[in-house]
Amino acid sequence: MSILLFEGVTHAELYAKYRPKYPDAIYQLIGDYCRAPGASGLSVAVDIGCGSGQGTFPLCDIFDHVVGVDISQSQIEQALRLQNLDNKYGADRLKFLVGPAEDLSFRDDNSVDLISVAAAIHWLDADKFYKEVDRILKPGGSLIVYTYVLPKPDKEEAVQIEAQFYKEHLSEYASSRIFPKLEDYEIPYGDEHGVRSVPMNYSLSVQEYVGLITTLSVSQTYLQHNPSSEIFDDLTQRLLNLYTDPVTKEEIPMYTTSTVTVRTGRKPL
Ligand SMILES: C[S@@+](CC[C@H](N)C(=O)[O-])C[C@H]1O[C@@H](n2cnc3c(N)ncnc32)[C@H](O)[C@@H]1O
Repeated sequence: MSILLFEGVTHAELYAKYRPKYPDAIYQLIGDYCRAPGASGLSVAVDIGCGSGQGTFPLCDIFDHVVGVDISQSQIEQALRLQNLDNKYGADRLKFLVGPAEDLSFRDDNSVDLISVAAAIHWLDADKFYKEVDRILKPGGSLIVYTYVLPKPDKEEAVQIEAQFYKEHLSEYASSRIFPKLEDYEIPYGDEHGVRSVPMNYSLSVQEYVGLITTLSVSQTYLQHNPSSEIFDDLTQRLLNLYTDPVTKEEIPMYTTSTVTVRTGRKPL
């Protein structure tokens, strides 16, 4: 299934700027799972629905070769821009490709140690994708799917403002694809660990928090229908009123909490 909601250049730029990095504990978990007895090794990883590389770059510290794949040309352009900017991993070790998860014909059968999917499983045609997963994973290769929920601000009033904002403006554009619950997904190969949770806590500015909300597909759909809307500016102002020190007039950091849920499976030997 080809979903091009993330195609707008502006959206991909927003995405690269405001989507959070995943906690190190996620990559610790991935490394441990792929090093465990019976696992195929740490040679090649493929990150599906990679966006601008949030979950792809950290894999380079674990695997010899990493490929990020996304159906959106503009997301891949952002990933390549960040790769060049960072200049840490060359094209010999890290590649980004435009393409659908449902056709991974750029890889041979039994040639990949890890397939990861970060915050993207809900966009994929599961049957077609899992056929490709089973084809390209080596025996003992790992499939790791993870996702997170929108960070929750530390002030109850801010939580209420966000909930009201969502209900009033965004909910009518919501689809069941917005907040996937990994518990509801069938993951191949047994998933012997069940659903695991890793805390994801950040200190954000109001602009970073609202920026993250604008990257949600539901916000982008809202903006497509209401291109000159100022609701995100209004939200920013309301939150700034809460997160500004009344005496110094300086902005106070917003401490946010979230959880990354993870599911794992290993192709039988
Ligand atoms: C919510 S973003 C997640 C990006 C990144 N992995 C992260 O964790 O922030 C979902 C990504 O899945 C991509 N996508 C949607 N459908 C796809 C498909 N059929 N094949 C490959 N990528 C797809 C979108 O273009 C988008 O970049």
